[in-house]
Parts: sequence; C-alpha cells; structure tokens
Amino acid sequence: MSDIKPRKILVTSALPYANGSIHLGHLVEYIQTDIWVRFQKMQGHEVHYVCADDTHGTPIMLRAEKEGITPEQLIERVHAEHSADFAGFLVAFDNYYSTNSEENRELASGIYKALKANGKIATRTIEQFFDPIKNMFLPDRFIKGECPKCHAKDQYGDSCEVCGATYNPTELINPFSAVSGAAPVRKETEHYFFKLSECEEFLTSWTRSGTLQPEAANKMGEWFESGLSDWDISRDAPYFGFEIPDAPGKYFYVWLDAPIGYMASFKHLCQKAGLDFDEYWKADSNAELYHFIGKDILYFHALFWPATLQYSGYRTPTKVFAHGFLTVNGEKMSKSRGTFITAGSYLEHVKNPEYLRYYYAAKLNSTMEDIDLNLEDFVARVNSDLVGKYINIASRTAGFINKRFDGKLDPSGNNPVVAEMQAQAAVIADSYEQRDFGKALREIMRLADIANGFVAEKAPWVMAKDEAQSAALQAVCSDALEMFRLLTLYLKPILPRLATQIEAFLGGAPMDWHSVSLGLPAGHVIKSYEHLITRIDPKQIDAMIEANKESLQPAAQPHSQTRHAQHQQNEAKPASEAKATSEDSYISIEDFTKVDLRIARIVNAEHVEGAEKLLKLSLDIGEEKPRQVFAGIKSAYDPETLKGRLTVMVANLAPRKMKFGMSEGMVLAASDERGGPFILSPDSGAEPGMRVK
Ligand code: MSP
Ligand code: ZN
Repeated sequence: MSDIKPRKILVTSALPYANGSIHLGHLVEYIQTDIWVRFQKMQGHEVHYVCADDTHGTPIMLRAEKEGITPEQLIERVHAEHSADFAGFLVAFDNYYSTNSEENRELASGIYKALKANGKIATRTIEQFFDPIKNMFLPDRFIKGECPKCHAKDQYGDSCEVCGATYNPTELINPFSAVSGAAPVRKETEHYFFKLSECEEFLTSWTRSGTLQPEAANKMGEWFESGLSDWDISRDAPYFGFEIPDAPGKYFYVWLDAPIGYMASFKHLCQKAGLDFDEYWKADSNAELYHFIGKDILYFHALFWPATLQYSGYRTPTKVFAHGFLTVNGEKMSKSRGTFITAGSYLEHVKNPEYLRYYYAAKLNSTMEDIDLNLEDFVARVNSDLVGKYINIASRTAGFINKRFDGKLDPSGNNPVVAEMQAQAAVIADSYEQRDFGKALREIMRLADIANGFVAEKAPWVMAKDEAQSAALQAVCSDALEMFRLLTLYLKPILPRLATQIEAFLGGAPMDWHSVSLGLPAGHVIKSYEHLITRIDPKQIDAMIEANKESLQPAAQPHSQTRHAQHQQNEAKPASEAKATSEDSYISIEDFTKVDLRIARIVNAEHVEGAEKLLKLSLDIGEEKPRQVFAGIKSAYDPETLKGRLTVMVANLAPRKMKFGMSEGMVLAASDERGGPFILSPDSGAEPGMRVK
C-alpha cells in the first residue's frame, strides 16, 4: 500500500444552528462524516475535519432577547452544549469553531469585496414586511396569517403546514408579526444581491463535472430549468451578524457567512496546527474538499456556495455529499410521540453512543434516501450483531488463552478463515470510500458469521476437556482472536472507542488499515479479557421516549432561518408518504426483516417430564450460551435423532415463560392435515448463527 500517495483532504459537516439542541436527526450527518473521516485517516491520508456553530440571524437574536441574555452569551452556551454532545457521540472534529469569529468576519468581507470587484453584486430596492412595534424587518418565518390557498389560520409566511402550499408572505391573508403580534406594514429598503443569474454557465459545467450524486444533479437540472434568480445577501439592522463593508446598517444574510464558516474554522485550525490555509483553498489547489450535508440544504451548497467561491477567486468543492432525512419508527420525528430525541437524552438513557453509530452505519449508503431509525430493530440488531456475533468471538475464546496459556498466543499460521478475512480488506475499504457503510457492514458481518462458524465447529469448550488437545485448543483460540482483531480493525471507523479498548486488550499498537497483514504473532501475550459490551434493554428505549415526551417545548420554534423557500420546502419533507398501507394482507419488507431468523444447531434435545407435546431443545446460534426453546414436535421426533442437526429459528421472539421454563425463541416447522410437524433444515454449508432472509 505504500505506493499510494497520501491525499490531502478537508472535510466538513453542515454547521448546526446555535439556537437548538443536537438531536438524532443531526447525528445522521455528523456520524456519517465522522466514520468517513476516521476511515480516511486509517488509510494514512492527511485529513482535516472541521465544523462550527452557525450563529447568526434573526432567530438567534430573538431567542437571546427572550432569554434576557446577549446573542454572544447564548451562542457561547450552545457552543459548549453542542461540543459536549458531539464528544459524547465520538464525533472527532479537528476543529469545532463558530461563525461569529474574527476569521469569519475577515473572510466574509474579503469574499464580498472580491465578488463586488468582479461585478457580481447589485443593489436593488425591495419592499418587505416591517414590524412597526419592534421596528424591524420581518423574515418570512416570522410573519403569520391565513393561507391564501386553503385558508388555514396561523400559517407561516413562506408555506402552509396544512395544505403544503408555498407563497410569498405578501399573499397571506390578515398577516401579523410573530414577534409582536402587530399588523406588519410594507416598507421599502435597499438590499444587496449576488448575481446568481450570471453564474448559470459556470454552475452547469461544475455540476456536470461529477461533483454531485445523480439525484442531486437531477435536482440541479430542475433548478436550472426554472431559472436562477439573484440571491438576496443582505438584511437590515437589527440583525445579529456581520455588517457589510461600506454599507452601514446592512448585514450579511446568515447564509452568506455560514459556509464561509467552513473556511474560517479551517483557518483557525491552521493557526493552531501550523497548516497552510492557501494550499487547501487557493483556486488551483490539489487538495480535496468535501462537504457532507442534508438534502434540505443542497440549494445552498450546490448553487450559492460554488458560485461564491468561483467568483471570489477560491477553489470550488471536490464533491458535495447529501444524505436523506431521519425518520423514527417510519415517521417524521415528533415531540408529542417522544421521537424528537435529543443527543443528550440518548446519552443519558441508552448511554453507549456506538450502538447508534453502528445502527446508522448499517443503514447509510451513498444516496439521498431517508433513513429510518426503527427502535425495535435498533435493539435487535445491536444485540444480535454486536453482542451476539462480534464480541462473542472473543468472549468464547479469550478465557482459554488467559487461563490455560498465560495469555500467550500460538496461531496456526494457515487458517483459511483468517486468510479470507484479510483478503476482503480492499472490498471493505472500497465500500467505506464510496460511503456505502451498509455494504461494508454486510460484508464485515458475513465475516463475523464465518468466524463464529469456525469457533462453533472447533468447539474449544469441548477441546478444553481433553489434555491431549491442548496445543490445538491454543491454536484455535489464537486464530479466533486474530479473526476478532481483523473484525475490530474493519469496524474501527464506526466503533472507535470499542476498538481502542480491544487494542488495549490485545496489546498491540493502535491499528490502521495497514495493520490488516500484521497478525498477532506466536508468543504474543494478551491482557486478561474483560467484559466489553452489554445488551441494550428495551426498557432504556422506553425511558428515553418518555423523557423526550416530557421535555415537550411550549411553542414551535421557527426551525431554521428562512431557507430558499420554494426549493427547501419541497425538499425538507420526510418521505413518510411512502409508507405501506396495511389494509391488505401484505407485509412490508421492513416488517419481514424485523423477524430475526437464524440457522441453529440443536446441541441438545430431551423429553420434558409432564409435557405431552413438547421437547426441550438447546439451540446454538453462535451466541455465548445456547438458547432454550420448547417445541411442540414430540409426536414426530425422537430427541436423540435431533442432536447435532441444523434447523431454523426465530431468534428475536420475546422470551415466553412456559409451565416448564423459559422459551427463548421458536423453531420453524411445517404441518397441516396432511402430516407433520416437519422441522426445516438448511442446505449443507449453512452455519449456526447465519441470518435467514
Ligand atoms: N445552519 C444550517 C447549515 C449551514 S452549513 C453552512 C443548518 N443547520 S441545521 O442545524 O438545521 O442542520 C444541520 C445539518 O443537520 C444539516 O445538514 C441538516 O440537513 C441536518 N439535519 C437536520 N435535521 C435532520 C434530520 N432530521 N435528518 C437528517 N439530517 C438532518 O441547516
Ligand atoms: Zn394552506
């Protein structure tokens, strides 16, 4: 791998607004970006990951006023909260800054002056709503009134939440100011515009140069078709932001200086870390620049931002990566349902951030499709994949190495499973690079299944009973731990904290991608194995939902500063309309995948005293302990003939207390008036624990 030249990569996530808490929707983006950055760092590239709070604009100004503090005090408090939330989810920015910084003021002013010198700034007098009591111009979101289309009362100035219509605030019937309640008056004011209409040719070629995902490029096509209008980049005082040079009382609209905040945060990092700012930002830079964003802010990042950079003499982004929106249990996050879950409340109740990182990674790909956090599936998947499959490999083998061989490894040196796992490094790396984390995880979990199959087949707990097999036992467990090491390496971008703990346990250097071929050698001594991870208890989820119901906010905050209304409104809608109807007898693929079907080995079968129909089965599905299941198959099977054979079980059926004990699942068997029961078996080659889908 040493022939690959290290790349210089600058990565950003969108800057969260400084007037609200980080929630699980935001975290889709920060976790996605963080995984990608960690992966690139493991490749040995020079990567810088920067972000900041987006601090300017009317909502932040008014919020501070309501709390009786200055905007500066508000954004300082929120900066601390956001930083703690990100750290809690192991999102490792190289710099987390603020758009209200000197660097940003200078960069924004410089860019504005360059645009002006390039003839890209125009002034125009426009008419806007003005609150005569507050003495301020009102952003669209702060004007309310009756919808001109459906006549719903109390609708925002840019769109109707009842019928979905978008319109200009001037079209509202009986408008009033959401700040003071006063009837707004119309007033003329001079505004500054960026002449986007002159940038179409440049933007068309920028779009065609492979900078966008296909869906995003299509969206751009639609925007080009409807024509690009000039962009209003100024706001009148009072406004919390940067005053425009040589334009007293006029401020940069928040969306002008927000993306410049990416540069400012990086500039601040350059000062701290001795990096060369120009190397990354000059027009002919060879460094790569990637912006991770949500699909709702594509318009800003694919039109305004590259045009701003191009005409002020800077480089343009290498790629913009847009992701979809989070839904919870198939629906838009909702405060009344308790699914508007804040980062803080997740950390308080579920605690382990790596569970969510794992689940999001499993669901993420390179498209703009929405992703769903199904809370039941979340619990089932984390428990079965992370605890049941991955950690299980170490928990079933490390103890033997610790107790019987003083922690000393003696690998076989020619294990085909280890060889296959190493051989998949490039495939997994490619999936990470392409941001198809779901695909990477499917491959990693396939390898975990193979590793578990190896352990189950060798059954070290049986070998341990025979002194003559001592050397073989050491080799099997050493090989299994090597498999565990490789899985840990592959999972490290997603589970960085667990990987660090495991590196300490295995006693090697921190792993990067080149460590794939550096297997643990004979004679290497591991530390004693400590319990690494616990299952999620569904009760923790219930408590989290309850807590978020309680913290219901009184009035809906205008969610974000006026986005580009027409474009944004259509974009921001979660795709919950796509939900399947349940009138008929079909189930959705999501319903089906809720059933966790597994290949199981019947390790024991016996009669149950007093039971007419039942046999008691012990089923190995690659977990630490076999599952106990009572199955109504006594009439058709002699328990002795069942021992050792494979079948299929439902692994996530809620455990049921039966007269004879707990039943922890269900075995699949066919029967009707023609006969049965016939238990199902897989074709040869299947291994215990494999998922049936
Ligand atoms: N401040 C702007 C971004 C300026 S970037 C120069 C903003 N802030 S935000 O707080 O509303 O959103 C921050 C990021 O989180 C955006 O990329 C947004 O798309 C993303 N998400 C916010 N809610 C989300 C979901 N429910 N689901 C997925 N991503 C979401 O926009
Ligand atoms: Zn309406």
